[in-house]
Amino acid sequence: MIYPRVYQFGHGMDAQTYWENIYGEKAADAVSWYRPHLEKSLELIEHATHGLSASIIDVGGGESTLVDDLLARRYRNITILDISQTAIDVTKKRLGSASKNIHWLIGDITNVELEPCSYDVWHDRAVFHFLTAADARMAYVRQVAKAVRPGGHVIVSTFGPEGPTKCSGLDVVRYNAESLHEEFGVRFQLLRSSTELHRTPFGTTQQFLYCFCRVE
Ligand SMILES: C[S@@+](CC[C@H](N)C(=O)[O-])C[C@H]1O[C@@H](n2cnc3c(N)ncnc32)[C@H](O)[C@@H]1O
Repeated sequence: MIYPRVYQFGHGMDAQTYWENIYGEKAADAVSWYRPHLEKSLELIEHATHGLSASIIDVGGGESTLVDDLLARRYRNITILDISQTAIDVTKKRLGSASKNIHWLIGDITNVELEPCSYDVWHDRAVFHFLTAADARMAYVRQVAKAVRPGGHVIVSTFGPEGPTKCSGLDVVRYNAESLHEEFGVRFQLLRSSTELHRTPFGTTQQFLYCFCRVE
């Protein structure tokens, strides 16, 4: 077995097993990051796209309802990638026959094979912030730079400066717009950034940061 390089845990647990365990234990709406709809993500995706044939990848899509909402808006070129097979299986089951219209990828975003210049929009909510090692972050940015077409858009949402320091027991890196943009570099033109107070299913709040960039 090839272990994902992104993060390793004590007791021999790798990132994939960790996430499989989380999704094996909790219902889709019982995890802290759950929202019935990812309103801000949808708004930015709609802003970034000029037609319904736009090629959109949701990185670490998990069991999120973003794909349901994109299908409801009739986007027809959607890829959902996640490290967890369990999460993908739950989402496929929820979508039923509509799941056949989605491209599914299971893998670690830092080393999965992606077609060059194949996406108009790259969306990531709450994945990049788990990359606490600089080499994993660099690998991620190389993937975005390779897979997104020039003129395409990148939407990355992480915990903000006042957000939690951990999620699901894992350390995260918190960002403001400047520090997040710095990770990506000058090829990524920062068009917009904003913060959002996310209300978890348990009634607590978490500050998220959204950055919206155009790839030169
Ligand atoms: C906090 S959840 C966010 C899920 C979804 N984006 C949302 O907003 O509801 C993080 C997701 O990223 C996935 N993930 C974590 N590390 C990953 C990696 N290196 N490559 C791909 N997916 C990863 C997890 O399996 C999980 O589904």
